[in-house]
Amino acid sequence: MDIIESVKEYVIRQSNEYKSNADDHYDFWNEHIKYVLAESVKLANEYGADVEIVSLGALLHDIALINKVGDRKDHHANGEIIARKVLEDLNYDPDKKERVLKCVYNHRSSKNSESIEETCVADADILAHFDNIPMLFNSAFVRNNIELNDIKEWLNEAFKKDYNDLSDRTKESFRHRYELIKEVVIG
Ligand SMILES: [Fe+2]
Ligand SMILES: [Fe+2]
Repeated sequence: MDIIESVKEYVIRQSNEYKSNADDHYDFWNEHIKYVLAESVKLANEYGADVEIVSLGALLHDIALINKVGDRKDHHANGEIIARKVLEDLNYDPDKKERVLKCVYNHRSSKNSESIEETCVADADILAHFDNIPMLFNSAFVRNNIELNDIKEWLNEAFKKDYNDLSDRTKESFRHRYELIKEVVIG
């Protein structure tokens, strides 16, 4: 089996375990990771980045959250440690492995990116939110206890923060869709 399929299988398995056992029963694969993977591959093709590195980075970027290791604030660093072990167990090429690990470690903002692959993963992590608007409502109402009359303001802030965290290049290409989404969802 190729490396991407093997890692994908691993992540889906871990996500299913989280869904069954964690208090919030969040479905990481179906609500977040599959969208990050799709968006990161699109960006990789657009920006001429290495699709394999980007795909593996996208698959593994939140693995510390999925595996419930450490605090959320450290999940990029713990994710790097877990991803290293996963890729070593699969005998993945050492140089490529380091490039994937940097995508995991630096995924929390495109401002940290040192390579185009890292930018693709960081930006895809954000674009994935706009691919799954129902999840944002769930996040507002269920996870953050937002009242109905505050939802538009909450979403507006969330959208703005996400958009501002994108790299300049992705801001530009996403701008039109961003305006449409804001118009439809917030009015
Ligand atoms: Fe993350
Ligand atoms: Fe993420």
